[in-house]
Amino acid sequence: MPESVKVATIQDLKPGQGKLVQVEGKDIALFNVNGQFFAIDDVCTHAGGPLSEGTLEGTTVTCPWHGSKFDVRSGQVLGAPAQKGVASYTVKVEGQDILIEVSPA
Ligand code: FES
Repeated sequence: MPESVKVATIQDLKPGQGKLVQVEGKDIALFNVNGQFFAIDDVCTHAGGPLSEGTLEGTTVTCPWHGSKFDVRSGQVLGAPAQKGVASYTVKVEGQDILIEVSPA
């Protein structure tokens, strides 16, 4: 059974913003796309750039280091130099709280 972990509240990030959160020691990038929240691994598959610090346009985040693009909904890679996508996580909003679903190790 996956469990849900509170990582932020909806006031913590405005539309178009990303935020680094940690769940069980893992760095996860949380994004606000017009009030909808999405979560993917923070670590770019190219050379480890922090995707939470990337530029968000619509549902696409651009890595701040060398410009790889990822879909924040699925973690799928949309633009080189990265070749591989990143993991994505199910996000739930309960009241003011943003929760990420993680599978227990
Ligand atoms: S580390 Fe992300 S594009 Fe190079």
